[in-house]
Amino acid sequence: MAIVKVPHLGRTFIMPAQIEIFLTGIGVEYHRWLSSEPLSSHASPAQILDAYKSQLESYKIAHGFAAYDVIDLTPETPGIDDILGQCSKEHWHDQEEARLIVAGRGVCNIHPAGRAVVIAELEPGDFLSVGRGIRHWFELCAERRLRAVRFLDAQQETSYTQSGIENEYEPVCLGPAYFAHRQL
Ligand SMILES: [Fe+2]
Repeated sequence: MAIVKVPHLGRTFIMPAQIEIFLTGIGVEYHRWLSSEPLSSHASPAQILDAYKSQLESYKIAHGFAAYDVIDLTPETPGIDDILGQCSKEHWHDQEEARLIVAGRGVCNIHPAGRAVVIAELEPGDFLSVGRGIRHWFELCAERRLRAVRFLDAQQETSYTQSGIENEYEPVCLGPAYFAHRQL
């Protein structure tokens, strides 16, 4: 499950229902999606798409996407530094950006106009869609591993803000350690 933090407000959300409501208020759609069968870490793209077929098809049709595919990032992915470098600078798109995490973890930093930055740490089963025009940047956790289903449009323009705000936020991935800490 995701962990959502708003550092400037000292707020943290860990319950999916709370996260869903809070993110809706800033133009971001969040859901927990359950696969129709357990997926191993070595599942093929076809197996992944099949396991989430009903949710993927429903969302694609409802939001007018052209298609979806599986992306796979590891420390060995050619050009990984360039790929992550582009994602990790504050930007926005002229279409919504929708992803389902299926392996690994990452952090989506969301910067709604005139509001505090919201940090959403995502893990497998987390679906997140950042609305059109909402500024954001994305980083992987230390293991630099991510498999995700991404929804595709025929054309999606990306605009960089050049604000440099991302330099003020260290990617802090808490993961399971956060829950262990809470139980102390
Ligand atoms: Fe983006």
